[in-house]
Amino acid sequence: MNGCMASACATSSPLAPVARAASTPPACPSKKTAATGCRRRSVSCRATGGGRGDDGGLWLPRRDMLSALSGVAAGLAGYQGLASAAVEGCLRGDKVDEKLVRCTDTDPKTGLPCPPPLPVPIVDFRPEGKVKRVRQPAHLLSREYQEKYKEAIAKMKALPPEHPLSFVAQAAIHQAYCDSHYRWNDPAKDTSFDVHFSWLFAPWHRMYIYFYERALGQLIGDDTFAVPYWNWDAPSGMVVPALFRDSFANPLHNRNRDPEHLDALVDLDYIGTLNSGKVPPPIPFNEPQDKKYKEAVNKNLCTVFQQQIREGQGARAFLGEKLCSKFKVGENELVGCQGSLERMAHTALHAWVGNPGSRVVGQDGVAHPNADMGFLGSAGRDPLFYSHHANVDRMWHIWSTKLGGKGFDDPEWLDASFVFYDDVENPRRVRIKFRDVLDARNLGYTYDEEAEKDLPWINCKLTPLVPHGKDAPPRPSTRKAAPVFPVTLRKDQ
Ligand code: C2O
Repeated sequence: MNGCMASACATSSPLAPVARAASTPPACPSKKTAATGCRRRSVSCRATGGGRGDDGGLWLPRRDMLSALSGVAAGLAGYQGLASAAVEGCLRGDKVDEKLVRCTDTDPKTGLPCPPPLPVPIVDFRPEGKVKRVRQPAHLLSREYQEKYKEAIAKMKALPPEHPLSFVAQAAIHQAYCDSHYRWNDPAKDTSFDVHFSWLFAPWHRMYIYFYERALGQLIGDDTFAVPYWNWDAPSGMVVPALFRDSFANPLHNRNRDPEHLDALVDLDYIGTLNSGKVPPPIPFNEPQDKKYKEAVNKNLCTVFQQQIREGQGARAFLGEKLCSKFKVGENELVGCQGSLERMAHTALHAWVGNPGSRVVGQDGVAHPNADMGFLGSAGRDPLFYSHHANVDRMWHIWSTKLGGKGFDDPEWLDASFVFYDDVENPRRVRIKFRDVLDARNLGYTYDEEAEKDLPWINCKLTPLVPHGKDAPPRPSTRKAAPVFPVTLRKDQ
């Protein structure tokens, strides 16, 4: 692998790449093991408050990044073995609930980013009776649906910031959980708590997008409204969707995006590209499809294939390793390892969209580049985040349905719970468990079936590069592809 994301010491969680960030390596050692995509925190580093990186970027040694995320042809061996060996030694895992962690560092003026302390009791989540919402690809959305989303988001942005379902509050949820505002509710452990870099990643983000989607539907009085997904795994969706950038007046537009990448074909292995030291000029998305273009598309498809299939076999490899709160490795404490779902296309696109020229001050007081999407503390401020994560969620959905992947059966995972606000009119607090969200139907949504019929990456050829798209040769049947595709496709899903 591995898209090892180095934590700039014990606090803010960077997503950004090194090459285009003005980077100064932090004085602290990496908190993540390059070989495994695992994250460590050093208590001593935080305690002294010193040596934090000022770049917020990934700063792993180049060779580690290469072996880590270089995608298509990168070593397939190793990831699982190394990560597993690291986690076998976990001394204590924790079943997360609202008592285990607490939100800290609230700004006295705004109350953010912690959730507003509304005096309402917590109720348990009740599954939705039927599927009402169908998430569709953002680039194929009808005009009417696009306008609907714009209207909903404009209304969400118009809610006062102290409203727990305002857009500001939505973005703050991600900031709080992902930029070290949550901490273990245990004074003995001075470590921050994060929903990235472990098996919490996929279910937590599913919950987050779910409550966001419901709030938007409520704001426009349409309970069938579903967040469109950024279909970056299909050649026609490999660009920031026009819906998010068609005009400055568009409430889905965001100023803090890399201007060089707005009209370019995405690079789903962007971290690997950056760390190869050879970053080619962006390829315009609408350019006539020459060889270079087709190769880049194929490389993207193969990155998705790697993430979903070659490197995503088994819950630990795909969803990440157990969240471990007690694991001593020298001075460092290991807290988790990313699965292929988190560390590949997901991370690449955060880095791809963030603007190296825009900085945002993190919990650590440092101005990090790559705002908004390229830094975890600010990522939720870009409306594109939610459509990006809808597709990350769809990748999990496909893995657990069509690809037959199975999640963990560990009660520490199944019963982990989080509390979210629900209901714009009468905000209430809802406790929801991972076991509640394993099947999207329980949450009343699904993904557009049409778009799933023909997954363009499923038969990716790692070598040699072959063109995909209209003029591609007919594909072999899935069954024939079995030797390079050892996951049985389930036809019934
Ligand atoms: Cu919580 Cu894509 O990050």
